[in-house]
Amino acid sequence: MKRILVTGAAGQIGSELVPILREIYGNENVVAAGHNTRLPADLMESGPYTTVNVADYFELDREIKWNDIGRIYHLSSILSAKGEQNPELAYAVNIGGLKNVLDVAKGNDIEQVLIPSSIAAFGPETPKENTPNDTVQKPRTMYGISKVFQELLGQYYFEKYDLDVRGVRFPGIISWKTEPTAGTTDYAVAIFYEAIRNGHYTSYLKAGTRLPMMYMPDAVKALIDLGRADSDRLKHRTDFNVAAFSFTPSELADIIRERLPEFTIDYRIDPIRQAIADSWPRSLNDSAAREEWGWKPDWDLEMMADDMLEKLSKKLAGRKVAKPQVYSPISRKGV
Ligand code: SER
Repeated sequence: MKRILVTGAAGQIGSELVPILREIYGNENVVAAGHNTRLPADLMESGPYTTVNVADYFELDREIKWNDIGRIYHLSSILSAKGEQNPELAYAVNIGGLKNVLDVAKGNDIEQVLIPSSIAAFGPETPKENTPNDTVQKPRTMYGISKVFQELLGQYYFEKYDLDVRGVRFPGIISWKTEPTAGTTDYAVAIFYEAIRNGHYTSYLKAGTRLPMMYMPDAVKALIDLGRADSDRLKHRTDFNVAAFSFTPSELADIIRERLPEFTIDYRIDPIRQAIADSWPRSLNDSAAREEWGWKPDWDLEMMADDMLEKLSKKLAGRKVAKPQVYSPISRKGV
């Protein structure tokens, strides 16, 4: 087989997707590509890796040819909060880089390109509850604008050039391996780190800010399953809502407190990230993904919280902590 290239392999999703793709397709067949950030050691040890700046067309084209690439998971992107600090960079990477990836794919007979979109592709005029797949978008962040562009350009390349571009709109992704730091939904990961390290978290979003979220194993499953889906069944291609659960910072704090009774939370609002969160959906309708390729999440909120605390406690064990907390899993309610 031709090999798979994963851009953004050092990132939150890439660092977890690469090992699973290597398990499925063989270590030698999955090339992890980073840029500016060092790849995690396990990715460099278990298979091929490289550096590529997606904003550089010729560098990307050379890497695709040298590595005999036949499929691309394009994950490199500047997320919402960092994009508002540096809109020029977000434009260059998310819009320029995306155009390069699609053009290089078209020029090298790439059989499939998978690219995650985001709830950031929606905006303040979008219906907030059970947000339909096809609705008003009009995002107000550079990241969100780039995601709408990506959805539309991917669809365009499919219709005009027969390039098989596919994508899901992810909610906030929660995971323990690589901590995200450039987005708006990152509080839902940071809260677990701080709960274990210090027993306290200061939230930059208001207590009642509800956002849709998903645990990483489901995010990885969504990308892999969409890639394998029967093309003839797909009416959408690049813009599938996928959902798992929604919560607010105060609800997540309650769930953590059930497991770490000493845990406390307070709030110091970051107006930029609060405004971004207020412009996004509170919950997503993912019936198109369910109907067209059988999407269904495996993880609910309580299971995710148990697993996060268990895995993160192990990861952080032995590291310097201000006030260590001991976590012992409790049984799931109703199970
Ligand atoms: N998690 C992303 C962010 O917060 C949304 O796609 O920017």
